[in-house]
Amino acid sequence: MSKEERLITPQEKPEEDALETSLRPRHFQDYVGQERIKKNLEIAILAAKKRGEPIDHVLLYGAPGLGKTTLAHVIANETGANIRVTSGPAIEKSGDLAAILTNLEAGDILFIDEIHRLPKTVEEILYPAMEDFALDIVMGKGPSARTLRLDLPHFTIVGATTMASLLSAPLRDRFGLSYHLNFYENKDIEKIISRSAKILGIEIASEAKSAISSRSRRTPRIANRLLKRARDYCQVKNEGNLTLPYCLEAFSLLEIDKLGLDTVDRRLLQTIAEKFKGGPVGLNTLAAATGEEADTIENVYEPYLLQLGFLDRSPRGRVITHLGRAHLGLNDEPENSLF
Ligand SMILES: Nc1ncnc2c1ncn2[C@@H]1O[C@H](COP(=O)(O)OP(=O)(O)O)[C@@H](O)[C@H]1O
Ligand SMILES: [Mg+2]
Repeated sequence: MSKEERLITPQEKPEEDALETSLRPRHFQDYVGQERIKKNLEIAILAAKKRGEPIDHVLLYGAPGLGKTTLAHVIANETGANIRVTSGPAIEKSGDLAAILTNLEAGDILFIDEIHRLPKTVEEILYPAMEDFALDIVMGKGPSARTLRLDLPHFTIVGATTMASLLSAPLRDRFGLSYHLNFYENKDIEKIISRSAKILGIEIASEAKSAISSRSRRTPRIANRLLKRARDYCQVKNEGNLTLPYCLEAFSLLEIDKLGLDTVDRRLLQTIAEKFKGGPVGLNTLAAATGEEADTIENVYEPYLLQLGFLDRSPRGRVITHLGRAHLGLNDEPENSLF
C-alpha cells in the first residue's frame, strides 16, 4: 500500500495542505496538550521579551503529525516574529543557506523542517550563524584564500525533526531549547476533535468523538483526517449530525479497526501469528511474506504496534505478543469485535 493511499499515515498528504492550515492553532491557548513544553516555552518567551532579545534556538522533535510545524508557528505568533519556512532537503548548497540567512531581519524566526536532512556542508555554515550570528565566507582558492566574516542579525532557528538521533551532536548542542513532543492523551485528542469540528461546522456526538479518538493513534493529524472522512460519510448519507453509528459504519468501510489499525497492520500481525507460528521471524522474511518493504515495516508500521504491545523485537526477529493475538481474536478468549 503506498503512503498516499494509507488513511492512517501520520505523514501529511499533499492534498491536506489547506485543511491543515485552517485547523492549525495559532496561539498557546488553542494548542492542546504538551503542557510542559508550552509552559517552558512561555517562560523562555517572556524572559527573552524582558531582555529585549529574540528567544534562543528551539529544537522540536517527535513523530510525524504531533504538532511540530504548528508549534513553530505558535512561537512566531506569540513572539510577534516573522517566520520564514524552509526544510533540510530544500537547502542543497551552502550558498542557498547563506542567501536565506542574509535576508533575515533581526528577531525573525527561521523554521527548518526535517533539519536532520541538511547536507553536511550546509550544516557547517549554520554553526557560526547560530552561535555568533556570523557568516564565514571563503574568498579565493588555495594559499591566497581568505575568510571573510559577515555579521548577521540576531534571529532564531526553530528546527523540527522526526529523527533526533540522526542529528549531529554539534548541531544539537547549538539549540538552547530542545523539546520532545509526546503522543497525546485521549482526552486531548478529543479536545482537538471538538475544536476542529467547530471550525469545520460539524455537529458531533460525544460518543463519535471517542470513536475517532481511539482510532487516531494518539496523533492530532490522524484525528483530524478521520473526522473529515466520517463527516464525508455522513454527508453522503444525508445525515447532518455526526453520530456514533455513522462513525462506526464509516470506519468499518475504511477497514480501520477500534485501535486505529488498518489492513496492513493486521496482515503483518496475522502473518507472524499464522505463517510463522507467532515468530520470531526476521524483518526481511516478514517483508517478503507480506509484500511490504522492510524499511516501511520498520519505520511506518512497527512503531505503533510496538507501542500497543502487540509486537516485540527479539534478537532473532519479530514476535507477536499475547495482546496482539488477543486483538486478532486468536486466543481462546471470548471474541471481541474488531470494529
Ligand atoms: N497541540 C495541538 N492542538 C491542536 N491541533 C494540533 C496540535 N498539534 C497538531 N495539531 C493539528 O494536527 C495537524 C498536524 O500538525 P503538524 O504541526 O503539521 O505536525 P508535524 O509538523 O509534527 O508533523 C495540524 O494541522 C494541526 O491542526
Ligand atoms: Mg511538520
